[in-house]
Amino acid sequence: MHLIDLITRKRDGGRLTTAEWRAFAAEYAADRYPDYQVAALLMAIYFRGLDDEEGFALLQGMLESGGRLDFTGLGKPVVDKHSTGGVGDKVSIPLAPLVAACGVAVPMMSGRGLGHTGGTLDKLESIPGFNTQLSLAEAKAQVERIGCVLIGQTGEIAPADKKLYALRDATGTVEAIPLIAASIMSKKLAEGLNGLVLDVKTGAGAFMPELDRALTLAKTMVAIGEQCGCPTVVLMTNMDHPLGVACGNALEIEESLDILRGGGPADTREVTIALGEQMLVLAGMAADQGAARSQLEDALASGKALEKFREIVAAQGGDPRVVDDPERILPRAKEQTLVVASHAGVVHRVEPRVIGRGIIALGGGRLTMEDAVDPSVGFRILVRPGTHVKAGTPLAGVLARDSAGLEIGSACVREAVIIGEGDVTPQPLISHRVTAAGVHALDAA
Ligand code: URA
Repeated sequence: MHLIDLITRKRDGGRLTTAEWRAFAAEYAADRYPDYQVAALLMAIYFRGLDDEEGFALLQGMLESGGRLDFTGLGKPVVDKHSTGGVGDKVSIPLAPLVAACGVAVPMMSGRGLGHTGGTLDKLESIPGFNTQLSLAEAKAQVERIGCVLIGQTGEIAPADKKLYALRDATGTVEAIPLIAASIMSKKLAEGLNGLVLDVKTGAGAFMPELDRALTLAKTMVAIGEQCGCPTVVLMTNMDHPLGVACGNALEIEESLDILRGGGPADTREVTIALGEQMLVLAGMAADQGAARSQLEDALASGKALEKFREIVAAQGGDPRVVDDPERILPRAKEQTLVVASHAGVVHRVEPRVIGRGIIALGGGRLTMEDAVDPSVGFRILVRPGTHVKAGTPLAGVLARDSAGLEIGSACVREAVIIGEGDVTPQPLISHRVTAAGVHALDAA
């Protein structure tokens, strides 16, 4: 098969067969195609798209390019959640132990921060010693032993996606719906799941800000899940402003611990519980969302979820004292300051992309996969759209390595927080639920 024939056919608006897509993924994973040709094919896909059959064939090829977890005989349902990512989105960290504490096996595979969004792996690695790079065999053994693992994608899982994702990132071809769907679903389906819950973000800080495109992505992923025998449910959640208060790696671990203790910011807690409800219902552990919510609330109130997190941290080489004493165990920024409102008014916007880029500027995120991350820096965002402020009201805390960082961070807060006049109606936190049965608008504010 000559790749040039596939490139020109796609470039001219034609389609590739299922066999061609599957062979393409296998050959690329085996390093038999040069990146410059694959980059051209990706750009042709970006402009011409893939029909459903082509998208599914590419997904199958990517999935088959690597190994899979197999939990046959585990005796428990296996369910995971994935988010399309945003700023301050630390939900995976409390959610995985919470759902595992309710009896569901959760083999959670997450990513690193890239672009303006943060990554669960970077957050977890701010816990001294925490190892996210387990082999498939180690991950499986940990799920069998304690019901949950928090890992990164290794070369064993969907290697075609690993290579394609890096190339897309370098060639401006990330934002293509069939490519995003195949990328996310190839990794998730390799986990050997009985069900999958997806958190698709919309709004200014989301990968796919427009609701209609985000819904198309959601429907595409639900259809792939169903075709592969993995029931998939999506909640569409708001990323028009950062989620919660903490934005930055170690800060987000602290906030995750607050959620696991039954506290934390209301929005982060609600998104965590809402996704947990879907996971328990999909797993068959609860008859409906109401029953699922009470199980989740019991696991938080009884301390079972927090204890499960302690077990995971210890199993993955992290310092379990972080659970009781995060302030002492997590890296602390040397400098902090508060940025206050210069005038009275109502907060209209807290721009998530400005805050996300601010974390990178402080050293807490990366521009390339090789960049080192300082886990201690970040922001505590103290206002949200609709908050009334006076001159002098604190808007955000900035945590930085040095005084230059404080200045950079303070400038970001002043740019991100827009104060105006008149009331603001905040966007709903969870706007839609998407299943194989269709798209349902929700009322949750
Ligand atoms: N996350 C992924 O894993 N892949 C994408 O293409 C986009 C987000």
